[in-house]
Amino acid sequence: MTRSAFGAGVLACAVLGHAAAAAQPPAAAQPAEESTQAFNDRMVEQVRKKIAGKESKPASEVFENIQIEWFKAVPAERLLAIMNRGYSRALGVKCTHCHMEEDFASDDMREKEAAREMAVMHKAINDQLAKMKHLEGTPEDRFINCTTCHRGKVDPHDPPR
Ligand code: HEC
Ligand code: HEC
Repeated sequence: MTRSAFGAGVLACAVLGHAAAAAQPPAAAQPAEESTQAFNDRMVEQVRKKIAGKESKPASEVFENIQIEWFKAVPAERLLAIMNRGYSRALGVKCTHCHMEEDFASDDMREKEAAREMAVMHKAINDQLAKMKHLEGTPEDRFINCTTCHRGKVDPHDPPR
């Protein structure tokens, strides 16, 4: 803010001072800045309320737009856990990196479509790993997930957190 803009602000405050003070909510009512995890937990709770009673039903029956084959039969609340503890945490983002807050079913965001393509890629890698013959251990031991690459970053090339 420039000095003169600041001056104008002070003047406006002086003029509006009393009205503004009366309209201000008490300081305690102003929430502290919400962490990414707190925001995501709140979004999950919000969706969970909307699907109350259907938490254990297959995601494809509870939600509007489930296209990833292996998500269709997953219980709805498990899908929410994958979104929160899996996708969001792997990239270190809020739900709104991929979703519009008011419409989780919408495909309007590029990031959501990118995540679908990533899901297909990660499964292809796991299928390939399972076929390898010269590794120790069982196929269950050698899976990768979003975190294997992203490690809390949107761009895996960024240094780890
Ligand atoms: C990295 C991107 C990404 C992040 C972050 C993410 N999601 Fe998703 N979400 C997706 C994708 C992709 C789908 C679609 C899955 C499919 O097509 O099977 C989806 C689907 C959903 C759906 C189903 C919507 C419907 O009606 O079809 C809900 C609900 C949802 N996400 C909630 C959340 C919540 C809550 C968070 C945050 C805790 C979150 N998502 C974070 C990518 C993301
Ligand atoms: C094999 C490594 C690897 C795995 C596994 C992986 N990703 Fe990615 N992801 C990448 C790379 C590389 C990029 C591109 C980064 C860039 O733009 O330079 C990327 C980009 C993305 C983007 C686009 C980010 C943006 O805002 O443009 C999303 C969303 C994403 N990944 C989600 C996921 C999800 C969800 C999973 C798990 C299902 C996943 N990724 C698994 C390597 C991976």
